[in-house]
Amino acid sequence: MRTAVLISGRGSNLKSLIAASADPTFPAEIVLVVSNVETAGGLQIARDAGIATKIIPHKPFPSREAFDAEIDRALRDASVQLVCEAGFMRIHSAWFAKQWEGRILNIHPSLLPKFPGVRVHEQVLAAGETESGATVHFLTAELDSGPIVAQRKVPVLPGDTPETLAARVLAVEHELYPEAVRMVVEGIAAPS
Ligand code: GAR
Repeated sequence: MRTAVLISGRGSNLKSLIAASADPTFPAEIVLVVSNVETAGGLQIARDAGIATKIIPHKPFPSREAFDAEIDRALRDASVQLVCEAGFMRIHSAWFAKQWEGRILNIHPSLLPKFPGVRVHEQVLAAGETESGATVHFLTAELDSGPIVAQRKVPVLPGDTPETLAARVLAVEHELYPEAVRMVVEGIAAPS
C-alpha cells in the first residue's frame, strides 16, 4: 500500500513507521513525506531513509481548501493510497477529509474522545486524570473525532509534568501507529 506521511515537526512517529516498514511483512510502503514546515526535523529522517519529501508551506495559500488542494495533488502525483498524519498540525478542510475518507489516519496523544485539540497533556493533568494514552483514528472533517482504529493506555503518575507524560505517551505512540496501519491495510479495521 503506497503510503504518505504528513508531518509538521520532529517526526518521531514517522521514524517508527519507517522502521516498521523495513519488515518485509509490513503491508505499507512509505513513498512520500509531506511537511508544511520547512524546518521540520522529520524531513531529514525521511531523506536519510531515501524517501521523497515535499514541503508545502500553508502560509502562501489564501484558504484551507487551496492549501489542501496542493497536498491532494502531491498525494495523487505520487499515487498514494493511504495517508498517515503524524504530528501534522493543520486542520483540514471538509473537502480534503471527504477526498481521503477511509484512507487517512491520524495519531493523537490522548484517549479520544477525551482531550481533542492542542495542549493535550496540560489538559489531562489539569483534569486530574489517572490514565492517558494514544489513539489512532480515521480522519474526518470533525477534529480528532473520526472512527477509532486503536488505542493504548499509560498511567498518569504523581509528579507528572506535561513533558514527562508526553514522553510516556509518545513511547506507546511509536508502537501503536505501525500496529494500526497494519490493521487498516489488512482490513482488520475499517471506518464504518
Ligand atoms: C505526537 O505526540 C502526536 O501524537 C501529536 O504530535 C506529536 C508529534 O510528534 N499529534 C497531535 O497532537 C495532533 N493533534 P512527532 O513529530 O515526534 O511524531
